[in-house]
Amino acid sequence: MQRKTRLNQSPKLIWFTGFSGSGKSTLANAVESQLFEDGYMTYLLDGDNIRNGLNKNLGFSDEDRVENIRRIAEVSKLMMDAGLLVISAFISPFRKEREMIADLVGRENFVEVFVDCPLEVCESRDVKGLYAKARKGLIKNFTGIDSPYEKPLMPAVHIFSDQETVIFSVEKIIKVISGKLYL
Ligand code: ADX
Repeated sequence: MQRKTRLNQSPKLIWFTGFSGSGKSTLANAVESQLFEDGYMTYLLDGDNIRNGLNKNLGFSDEDRVENIRRIAEVSKLMMDAGLLVISAFISPFRKEREMIADLVGRENFVEVFVDCPLEVCESRDVKGLYAKARKGLIKNFTGIDSPYEKPLMPAVHIFSDQETVIFSVEKIIKVISGKLYL
């Protein structure tokens, strides 16, 4: 069955990685809206729809984060199989897991977007108040504080979210992927 032929698009996984509060979800939402408006069939996966449902039995130990990403990678793959452009936004702190995703869906279909933002900036925004709690020791294993984040070495797109507007960053991402989507 050639679902992608009917949808007239080449399934891709656009994967946003970065600290909590770096702007991953904001950008992922904006990219999805743009692609949807342009006529593509898309789906967005993020903490809101995954950690509250499929992965609600998982916490933030290294082991649970690995399992979180493994399941999300498998779900993304199924959605790509259905012909969709999948946009996923998760901290995904470990390089090895991000490599695993690329291998699972095919490197040519994987677009890694590093949402780079200094920890101090994420912490000063503290939209959800979680950094303050982590500093007080009320939340353990918080990424950037007492849990590691391994920066991508060669991301397909490198966003500096403390220096760029959302519109500018979205254009950067769309420019990198637009040649690969054939509609
Ligand atoms: S990941 O590391 O497994 O990829 P994921 O992106 O799903 O993380 O979830 C991160 C979100 O969970 C953060 O944006 C934050 O709102 C919340 N959160 C709660 N506890 C933690 C923690 N210990 N470390 C990081 N994020 C946490």
